[in-house]
Amino acid sequence: MNQPAIKAQVTPAMDSPSYVTHAKLLAWVAETAQLTKPERIVWCDGSQEEYDRLCNEMVAAGTLIRLNQEKRPGCFLARSDPDDVARMEDRTFVCSKNKDDAGPNNNWLPPEEMKATMRKLYDGCMRGRTMYVIPFSMGPLGSHIAHIGVELTDSPYVVVSMRIMTRIGRKVLDILGDKGEFVPCLHSVGMPLAAGQNDIPWPSNKEHKFITHFPEEKLIWSFGSGYGGNALLGKKCFALRIASIMAKEQGWLAEHMLILGIEPPGGKKHYIAAAFPSACGKTNLAMLIPPKVLEGWKVTTIGEDIAWIKPGPDGRLYAINPEYGAFGVAPGTSEETNANCLAALKKNTIFTNVAMTDDGDVWWEGLSKEAPKHLTDWTGKSWTPDSGRLAAHPNSRFTVLASQIPSMDPDWENPAGVPISAFLFGGRRTTIVPLVTEAKDWNHGVYLAATMASETTAAIVGKVGVVRRDPFAMLPFCGYHFGDYFKHWLSVGAKVKVPPKIFAVNWFRRDAKGKFMWPGFGDNMRVLKWVVERCEGKSGATETPIGNMPRYEDMEWQGMTGFNRENFDTLTHVDHDAWRAELKGHDELFEQLKSRLPAEMTKQRQGLEKAL
Ligand code: OXD
Ligand code: MN
Repeated sequence: MNQPAIKAQVTPAMDSPSYVTHAKLLAWVAETAQLTKPERIVWCDGSQEEYDRLCNEMVAAGTLIRLNQEKRPGCFLARSDPDDVARMEDRTFVCSKNKDDAGPNNNWLPPEEMKATMRKLYDGCMRGRTMYVIPFSMGPLGSHIAHIGVELTDSPYVVVSMRIMTRIGRKVLDILGDKGEFVPCLHSVGMPLAAGQNDIPWPSNKEHKFITHFPEEKLIWSFGSGYGGNALLGKKCFALRIASIMAKEQGWLAEHMLILGIEPPGGKKHYIAAAFPSACGKTNLAMLIPPKVLEGWKVTTIGEDIAWIKPGPDGRLYAINPEYGAFGVAPGTSEETNANCLAALKKNTIFTNVAMTDDGDVWWEGLSKEAPKHLTDWTGKSWTPDSGRLAAHPNSRFTVLASQIPSMDPDWENPAGVPISAFLFGGRRTTIVPLVTEAKDWNHGVYLAATMASETTAAIVGKVGVVRRDPFAMLPFCGYHFGDYFKHWLSVGAKVKVPPKIFAVNWFRRDAKGKFMWPGFGDNMRVLKWVVERCEGKSGATETPIGNMPRYEDMEWQGMTGFNRENFDTLTHVDHDAWRAELKGHDELFEQLKSRLPAEMTKQRQGLEKAL
């Protein structure tokens, strides 16, 4: 914590279990407790008993509602404060020593200034509360691709969520030993309790919220929010922002990508990693069920949000899912869109901000065609279909163990990772961007990914539906200057012997009447099939100025109704004028990044303009 080391003045409340032997960890916990002044400290062992005890305590406190145990055994519902419902990008900071290292893609303040502000907020912020110590591993325990973190938090909701989302507890400390490296993650909801003051179901700090990263120290400080990526610090803060910096320093990749396995009938299995901005259907794609006609093709899930990727000895890139569970967007999830996911949510799931049925089950927009006649909405108010408002918050979530997802791949916990054959990059684009484009080579692929854009969704606080450049779907998650990040990607491609192929996709193009032109979901399998066949050199393509694209006859159309060659042509049409206008968007991005933009990016841009 960058303060003079405080000799651990261990009060009885700070007693640590005898199995904790890591001096630096013990000192950090003691030092944090002196600052935040919790009533007690609990070292989480990660056991089922501990999880059950905390859930029971939260039910008693009103933070969790136990759902109908016949319909949803082991399931709970949490309702957050209406002001604390999503990631807050404007409250997220990367405080590198040098402003330019954070880049224009991050909010920045000098680290000492930010620390001074936050230390004041942290001073006494856990009064009347318990500080939980959560040792966690991102990735299978002991995998050479995995890394360890320790989160200190005053939120029991965070503890139980972390137990689903990461591997936590004593087993992690066993691996850490007494000198192992860990990323310190400090979190407080920022609402101390005065003596005798009653708690509220969802404490947070209305005035001050900060989600802060200190790259040089690999340190995370979060204050004021209890929701999702603001509070479960293993996810976006560690596994993406801090890990992206570690990855650059150490020669690997930490990406906002799902990983899926795909096995042709009688053929060789491939793994594909795919990056999409938040709430663009990553969970659905990761758990895809192929349409009837492609039933022989098997799709399996390795991860649905984050991939850590390291070069293997055979010159290929190997990926793990650093998480242990899924924190997915509930609205839109249904038997039709994602039956695998729905099956996972039948038990042991924590739902947040969904609606509740009168018999204690859950509901959200899209779960069924017709809404139930009466519900309790996500704010706890009585709701009917003509209430004129949503029953579930558009960013309402489920938190569920990956092991409950029926499509998990037998190798999802393989510590060696799985070899990646292709990267996919997709945004939510109503116009211009065709269904699928294959990059001509690695550097061209880096350009495609660097210039991708997407319409914003409810996963972040702010305006929804605005097109913004979102390079590699990492805009909110890259912990350093995007120019350096592009350079890092270029260098990885130059170093690995067998670089994956790179593709750009867009499931969201609409016709002149505003209707989606592509059915998406299971039919995305048709695109994946073409991708795999391209990886195997088995399928054809045509060259266009923006990359290689399938011809109608290169894809499988059997069993697809209401979609013909003409629809395909419109969906894959490259409008040269529109692309020239799109280039202006690329230029704007590059102008912002120019101090560190690799020359290769400008070269690619000139090549594209010439081709158009
Ligand atoms: C997420 C996000 O929650 O990207 O995965 O916002
Ligand atoms: Mn995400």
